[in-house]
Amino acid sequence: EKGGWSSFMRKEVAEQPEAVAKTLLGRVVDGRVVIPELESFGDEELRGIRRITLIACGTAAYAGMVAKYAIEQWARVPVEVELSHEFRYREPVLDEHTLVVSISQSGETMDTLMAVKYAREQGARTISICNTQGATIPRESDAVVYTHAGPEVAVASTKAFVAQIAALYLFGLHLARVRGTLSAEALADQLAELQAVPEKLEAVLAESEKVTQLAHWMADTRSVLFLGRHVGYPIALEGALKLKELAYIHAEGFAAGELKHGPIALIEPGQPVFVVVPSPRGSAALHPKVVSNIQEIRARGARVIAIAEEGDAAVLPFADEVLRIPLAAPLFEPLLAVVPLQIFAMELSQAKGLDVDQPRNLAKSVTVE
Ligand code: F6R
Repeated sequence: EKGGWSSFMRKEVAEQPEAVAKTLLGRVVDGRVVIPELESFGDEELRGIRRITLIACGTAAYAGMVAKYAIEQWARVPVEVELSHEFRYREPVLDEHTLVVSISQSGETMDTLMAVKYAREQGARTISICNTQGATIPRESDAVVYTHAGPEVAVASTKAFVAQIAALYLFGLHLARVRGTLSAEALADQLAELQAVPEKLEAVLAESEKVTQLAHWMADTRSVLFLGRHVGYPIALEGALKLKELAYIHAEGFAAGELKHGPIALIEPGQPVFVVVPSPRGSAALHPKVVSNIQEIRARGARVIAIAEEGDAAVLPFADEVLRIPLAAPLFEPLLAVVPLQIFAMELSQAKGLDVDQPRNLAKSVTVE
């Protein structure tokens, strides 16, 4: 039930701190990750994994793209992300040292289900990250790690996305401990960052008024671009997807580094561009590069809306609007930066008088291939 909220999406966006908190609940004990559901994967087996393939569709695939950066960094194992419907039709190289992790809110997405079945037939081991107890994909997998976001009713995925990233991060940190790729201290730091996410999400939600105003001003916009880099790149893709599906506005997300390889030709005066700015405290090279991307597009007339961490003053001279997110370690920024983009799409949809819970042509679970 909507319980006082004007839409399920509004309710589910607001439930994101809880979605992450519940997904972490009971799974961090004395500075260690405890996931009893993964018992069938012994430490020896986890040490023997040579490659991880994350398979999913849509928003769940973007959660996978975010997690790729974290799992590779922490557990030093190659991770690829593939759309389920592409994976199955290209004869992927699979064996018992390949771990295939599917990500699905509904657990019923036919493309992902068929990809999981295919992976098992080819001898891969499979784990399902799923939000729906007893769904088909978990039943077809060797193990399941549930996200505890609670039922997601609005067609567009929001709270399931942040819960998927949280579950994948737990898995990545578990793997890092078993494989000995992170010191106990580094592991504890990352877990503390993860546990701080719900509170930071609350802070982002409390600051959403500016995003709402922006959406109202931009209700006539015909095209919006999104740029990001590193973990901000999948967030740019997710921001564009949300805007397409909820507000029926043409939107595209790019890796900021790709700009000069083509997309910059799209920039003309007045073109709105959201830029997810990496933390200046992260990889030393990335922040100045994205700031210079902002200067490049601004010089060509783009209207820049930067999503930047609190205190990052470098963006101020060049951005038309700055949406702030709290300080977080770089890998945890996507969990915060996605929220203003979700709210922007939702508010713009409402400003246009559209049905934000049930966008046209879409179904909550896609049970056909
Ligand atoms: C986007 C959205 C879809 C789903 C995709 C996968 O807002 O909802 O892109 O993320 O259809 O669905 P699940 O996670 O149920 O497999």
